[in-house]
Order: sequence, then structure tokens, then C-alpha cells
Amino acid sequence: MSSYIIEGGKRLQGESYVSGSKNASLPIMAASILNKGITKLYNVPNIHDTQMMIEILKSLGCKVKKNQNKIVIDSRNVCKYEIPENLMHQMRSSVIFAGAILGRYKKAIFSYPGGCDIGSRPIDLHLKGFEKLGVNINKNFGKIICNVEEITPCEINLDFPSVGATENIMLASCLANGTTTIVNSAMEPEITDLQNFLNQMGAKISGAGTNIIKIQGVNKLKDVSYNIMPDRIEAGTLLGATAITGGEILLKKVEINHITPIIDKLGQMGCKIKLKEREIELKAPKRLKAIDIKTMPYPGFPTDMQAIMGACLTMASGTSIITENIFENRFKYLSELEKMGAKVKIEGKSAIIKGTRTLYGTKVNSTDLRGGASMVLAGLSAKGTTKVDNIEYILRGYEKLDEKLNNLGAEIYKI
Ligand code: EPZ
Repeated sequence: MSSYIIEGGKRLQGESYVSGSKNASLPIMAASILNKGITKLYNVPNIHDTQMMIEILKSLGCKVKKNQNKIVIDSRNVCKYEIPENLMHQMRSSVIFAGAILGRYKKAIFSYPGGCDIGSRPIDLHLKGFEKLGVNINKNFGKIICNVEEITPCEINLDFPSVGATENIMLASCLANGTTTIVNSAMEPEITDLQNFLNQMGAKISGAGTNIIKIQGVNKLKDVSYNIMPDRIEAGTLLGATAITGGEILLKKVEINHITPIIDKLGQMGCKIKLKEREIELKAPKRLKAIDIKTMPYPGFPTDMQAIMGACLTMASGTSIITENIFENRFKYLSELEKMGAKVKIEGKSAIIKGTRTLYGTKVNSTDLRGGASMVLAGLSAKGTTKVDNIEYILRGYEKLDEKLNNLGAEIYKI
């Protein structure tokens, strides 16, 4: 297991840039198998999760070439419709292949992806969506076996605007003979990126970004080249790292309208923000102000930014309340921050954070991807040296995080 060593107390300043979106890349990589041809993807982040997706694509029979942030997927010889169990368990978002495999093969075998550190993460909404599309689902010994003669287009009402369930239904109904409507669909920007990608492949999808998405099935798709959108959570993480160290940054390659809730909260915390075409300039105050945050489905405040803001608020002036409305177990990072001197109390779905003047470097653990990033931010601003363990979590979702932070004046290195 690797760790980061961070010498705290350095004020971040300078220029940085945002890499491609992890959460847009994963469903788009899965969607590539809907076309028996060649898919070229650019601006794909070079991280563990996209590498795992490449392994799954290869296990299904694809040829995949990767050169830095460019991936070429040849899915002409896809011959399998079972997602390998070991790969499913290593990355729950591999469940997104189910819809793509079903869309192409009308059958799919996969296993329960299992929960992870932030909650039980069921897939009932995915399975209910498949059933509404006429798919027969049998479950035995942890495996889910799906098959269907023909996907039956219909209207599907999601009990919750699940990102993964919305994506899986879009993929499963792309090649159906008729129109499927998703009501109460997720509105995240990653859904819009998936719609744009699929439409460039020849699909006929509309409504992404709203809570009603229509998928008009087509007979065939075609080869496509596509540029992945910037990662809005990495953007928020780099802005948060600047904010927690009282620094200033010019952040490039940002999609401003994807991160307005994050910008709004950083402004409330006292940061001075200038918006330019695909660039953000942020100047942090000496000490951030306490604020309240409630995570919500997009366009509300993103749950993936909750731990990042939690770190920033541990040294704000005043008491902040963070309410986590999306996942049931996303406060584990707070007990790690307490080891550094943070004053926190959890009451149900809310965390009460009493701002303190100083955090102290010590040995802490990454509890999950975003919890790990939160440890890095706390280490950047702490007095002394911080060792962040289990950074494999962080490497799943952030490309060159240490390099980007060092280029801004931090002192962080991997051991
Ligand atoms: C996606 O996860 C993201 N992952 C998550 O980012 C993100 O936090 C989440 O959306 C919410 O925005 C990827 O895109 C790969 P959901 P997903 O289905 O699709 C419940 C990160 O850090 N639910 O919208 O799994 C679920 O338990 C990751 O990058 C059901 O009950 O999220 C949760 O409470 C973490 N039944 C809520 O809905 C289901 O069938 C939101 O889940 C599906 C979900």
C-alpha cells in the first residue's frame, strides 16, 4: 500500500488545469461496445478506474490501445457477455457494462458490485429499469443473469434520480425498436456527456440535463471520436486545496457551468472568484468563513465534494453544518480529521464542524476516494508532516494529483 508524505503550511499559488472526467469516461467507455467498430476517446484521465475499464473491455473481447489520455477501442470482436467477477468487485461502477452488454447482446451476466466505503450502494433501480424493458432477471449465488428476446421500449419512472441507473437504461435502450422515456432521470453533466457521445455514434437521445430523457432506438451505430468533458470534482478539489491553504490559483480547462454550486459555496466562504472562458481565478482569504452545506442530486451541491469541503471547514471561523443526503456512510473521513485536531460531531445525516485555528500533521488513512483527497487537503494546511495511507483510493480518481499540487508550491510525495 502506498502513502503520501505532505509537509504542511505551504500556500498554494500558480496555474493548474483540470483533467478529463472520471465519471464521464467510465460510462462512455462501456458504451463503446454498443457499436461493432472503432471508438476513439480523447482527454480520458489516466487513473486506476479507467485502467480497470480497459481490463473489462479486453475481457469481453475488445482490442484496446492507450496512449496517455487517448484510448482506441476496437469492439468488432466482442464475444463475451459476462463481466468477470473479480473485476466487478474491484470497481462497482463496472455495473455500467450491464446496460451496454444487454443493449448489444440482449443478455448479460454480472455479479452484485457490492457496497463500498460510502454506503450499501444497491442496484435495485438498475434492475427495475431492466425489468421494465422486458429483461428476465435470475439471481443465483451472487450472479445476476439477464436475458431478453427484444428490449421493450417503455416509460420508466425512477424512484430516485440515480446516475448509474439512468446511464444503464440509456445504454440498454439505445438499439431498441421504439422510444424509451426515463422520468426522474439524473441530471448530472456526465449524463449529458454520455448522451452527446451516443448521439455522435448515431443514437437518438434527448433530454439529458433535465429530469426526462427520451431514447429513440436506432438499428445501427457508427465509429466515433469523442473528447471527454473536464472533471468537475477534480476542479472542486484543486479549488478547495487553494482555499484551505489561503492561496490563489488560475485553474484552466474548466467547464464553469458544471461547478456553479461549488463556486457559490467557496464564495460564501470568503474566496474572491473571477470567471473567464473555461478558466477560474480564485483568491482565498487568510481564514475561511463557516457555512452550511446540504448535498443534493445535480444541480444541487455534489456529494462527491462533501469531504473536500469538510476538510476546508475544519479551520473556518465559526461552526459549519454539512448534511449528506445522498449516501448513508460518507462521513468516515471526519474521524481521520479528528486525529489532526479537527472538532467534529456527527448527528444523523449531519456533521457539525467547529472551526479551529490549526490542524496538526500526523498519520491518517484514506477511507475512500474523496475521503482520501480530504486528507491530502488537510495535510497541505496542517502544521508539520502528514502521512496519508492507502492512497490507492485516491489514485483511482485523480490524475497526477501530487504533481499538480507540487507545481502549485505544495510539498507532497508518494512512498
Ligand atoms: C455516481 O455513482 C458516481 N460514480 C458517484 O461518484 C457519485 O457520488 C454518484 O453518482 C452521485 O452523484 C460514477 O459515476 C462512477 P447513484 P452511482 O446511483 O451511479 C442510491 C465518486 O466519488 N441507489 O446516483 O453509484 C445509492 O445507494 C463516486 O466519483 C439506490 O438506492 O450513484 C445512493 O444512495 C462516488 N438504488 C443514491 O442512490 C440504485 O439502484 C445515489 O446513487 C442505485 C442507487
